Amino acid sequence: MRIGVLTGGGDCPGLNAVIRAAVRKGVREYGHTFTGFKDGWRGPLEGDSVELPLSSVRGILARGGTILGSSRTNPLHEEDGPRKIIENLTALGVDALIVMGGEDTLGVAAALHGQGLPVVGVPKTIDNDLAATDYTFGFDTAVSIATDALDRLRTTAESHHRAVVCEVMGRHAGWIALHAGLAGGADVILIPERPFDLARVVGWVEARFRRGLAAVLCVSEGAAPVEGDMTLQEGGTDAFGHVRLGGVGSWLGERLQDATGREARTTVLGHLQRGGAPTAFDRVLATRFGLHAVDAVQDGAFGTMVALRGTEIVRAPLSEAVATLKTVPPGRYDEVEVLFG
Ligand code: F6P
Repeated sequence: MRIGVLTGGGDCPGLNAVIRAAVRKGVREYGHTFTGFKDGWRGPLEGDSVELPLSSVRGILARGGTILGSSRTNPLHEEDGPRKIIENLTALGVDALIVMGGEDTLGVAAALHGQGLPVVGVPKTIDNDLAATDYTFGFDTAVSIATDALDRLRTTAESHHRAVVCEVMGRHAGWIALHAGLAGGADVILIPERPFDLARVVGWVEARFRRGLAAVLCVSEGAAPVEGDMTLQEGGTDAFGHVRLGGVGSWLGERLQDATGREARTTVLGHLQRGGAPTAFDRVLATRFGLHAVDAVQDGAFGTMVALRGTEIVRAPLSEAVATLKTVPPGRYDEVEVLFG
């Protein structure tokens, strides 16, 4: 069997570990061959691919990003997109496709499976917002990067008796802010799922100042005040209709400075959270996903996505995986709110 592989959407550490595991098991255990498609769905759409022999995946386990490149190409928005993809796969002799991505990339995979494409999904995103899996790889690395940033920001905030706002990614889910804020000991955590009352945030910060302490706030890029909409840095949307988020951190820093009379500074971590080597947790999870994805192809379990449930890797229906976003439940935020201020 010839198996195609693609990595779509935002890149994240661990993608190369999936590719490595799938190729190594597929070649050595099942005698399969592999075709790597370039830049997400653009590759199958344009027939842009490379051969993936065992030698091509040597030494990539700890490398961030993706050796195949990625994009936010949406073939469902291209004229005859699905037909072109199926024609290109046939022309290249590709019998099945392993698709690594988040809700957008896997949403396309689910739609194409409905049109007959033999596909297995692998959940990828630093946002950890895919419903059918306990964790996605990339998330632990992003949380580790943000936690280290919060530790470092606290030392400068204490030296200058300031409020420091750290804006993190996560789009419409606050998982990175919640976990990094907890691990980094943030004095306030703000997430998209819980619109915040600015006066209450000021109160927490002033309580810190009154005790002669600095204030470090961890704010998700999608967080918004109760009275306003999401704070956007720039206009425009991507091929899946997502707006470019960002700006809430600066907005909040300015208001804290105005309200408290004390200096405030904002740091936006941005794509730092997506770069560099994967953590050990993400290397293990990504490797397991790759091994089980190639088993699913071998078993003909198309239209499924490998997923983590507890410590087990299971197969979830792809349609279920992309149906709803996994956002932070109210109880998980209530649990940590007692630590604020
Ligand atoms: O979905 C992952 C993610 O990093 C989000 O957290 C973030 O909002 C978005 O991608 C950024 O997208 P881009 O890399 O296209 O700017």
